[in-house]
Amino acid sequence: MSNGKFKIYDKLNDVTHYTELIKDNFSVFYKDKKAKVYVHSYGCLQSVSDGEKLKGILVDMGYIATDVLEEADVILYNTCAVRENAEDRVFGNVGVLKALKKQNKQLIIGIAGCMTEQDDVKKRIQKSYPYVDLIMGSNAFDILPKLLYDKLSNNKKYVELEPITEKSDIIENIPVYRDDKIKANVSIMYGCDNFCSYCIVPYVRGRERSRASSEILEEIENLVKQGYKEIMLLGENVNSYGKGLENDIDFPTLLKKINAIKGEFWVRFMSSHPKDCSKELIDTVAACDKIEKHIHLPMQSGSNSILKVMNRKYTIEHFMSLVDYVKEKIPNATLSTDIIVGFPNETREDFEDTLSALRKARFDTVFSFIYSKRTGTVAAKLDDSVTDKEKSDRMCELLSIQNEIIVEKMQSYVDKTLRVLVDTYNTERNSVLGRDSGGILIEIENGDKTLKGRFVDVLITSAKRTLLLGKIV
Ligand code: 5AD
Ligand code: SF4
Repeated sequence: MSNGKFKIYDKLNDVTHYTELIKDNFSVFYKDKKAKVYVHSYGCLQSVSDGEKLKGILVDMGYIATDVLEEADVILYNTCAVRENAEDRVFGNVGVLKALKKQNKQLIIGIAGCMTEQDDVKKRIQKSYPYVDLIMGSNAFDILPKLLYDKLSNNKKYVELEPITEKSDIIENIPVYRDDKIKANVSIMYGCDNFCSYCIVPYVRGRERSRASSEILEEIENLVKQGYKEIMLLGENVNSYGKGLENDIDFPTLLKKINAIKGEFWVRFMSSHPKDCSKELIDTVAACDKIEKHIHLPMQSGSNSILKVMNRKYTIEHFMSLVDYVKEKIPNATLSTDIIVGFPNETREDFEDTLSALRKARFDTVFSFIYSKRTGTVAAKLDDSVTDKEKSDRMCELLSIQNEIIVEKMQSYVDKTLRVLVDTYNTERNSVLGRDSGGILIEIENGDKTLKGRFVDVLITSAKRTLLLGKIV
């Protein structure tokens, strides 16, 4: 039954078999209707990338991709468990589907992703949303065809998940459905071994597993041949790339190999854990022309005592030494970070340390989050002396300081020339938008549609808080 497309699939649950069965019987299940699939991913880019694979598998079976929820025959939500508000949104959106299911009895609703790895969530879905047909985990690729086939052929619901373990295989050659034709996400590793005390990821995505470098390089070569101009390498901690692989390879070496691929394209990556971010990695970013001059280095807190309880395994002094090294070696680099505000028992002094680190590092982008308690994590067991009001006040304070920094930084680009990858045409303003190698958004006033997907040099004429304006030189 194998068409040779899913290499490791055959070892796992005979997935190719079920994919082929659905393909062969598609017209029986849907009576020659052009059945459609709607996939939506919540959360990080890794989740978006997983969603592109789930959509790819379904389109390969014969479904037509749609962005209109109401016309779909299969609706798949690929969920995120990192913070509670993302989970609340999923529950809200699943609630809305009840009415659609009443209108279309044949509609199949599936929930995949990190949220469904948590027992309490799985139980809540089964109890409160009985019209959900399929529940899959964060490794949904290997189970989706079987679950879907069971549903289509026997009207069977919910197949229990295999718990993810360190042994979970990486499935290669899954068809990927990418909406974007210029930028492509490529996962290089899955899972996380770090167990930061606040974070649910290691529990729901399992242990670190790296893809073989040959598979990654082949995928990127193909994407570049197809015309993709920006490749985003994804992993919870890309600096751990290569651990456990037969061939001895680390992340800087992988980057150098990617840089050697022929063609005009840029490559970027996230996330990079500060404890494992080596000088060699920063030197590699500095030396390789295709690697974008942008580093995402999640700081989380500026206080050493909070970093310790967070189990981050670095001090703020070490973090700052990395920031200084980036600035010294790559003067035009942009830096972004993640910060958690209101971690349990964060004192005013701890928070002041975060603000002073913010002022020192002068990040170009800060993703800040109010601490969200995640059941099962170590931090969830801590008592918390900080009130919700204090947490949201601190968040406002942090945002206002970062705002001042960003306004000054954006102003400093005026009169400079930046190389920009154009990715969007703005019909209303008849202009085009793109980003430079540091990820800064730039509107080109004298650009036209034909520039989409091309690199151009742009002279910056003025700056707003989130956008630079410029003209092609
Ligand atoms: N609460 C708030 N933010 C969190 N993050 C991870 N877990 C939590 C949590 N429980 C943030 C971290 C991480 C980013 C992806 O999400 O800042 O770097
Ligand atoms: Fe979560 Fe820490 Fe792993 Fe990042 S490194 S995914 S924050 S446990």
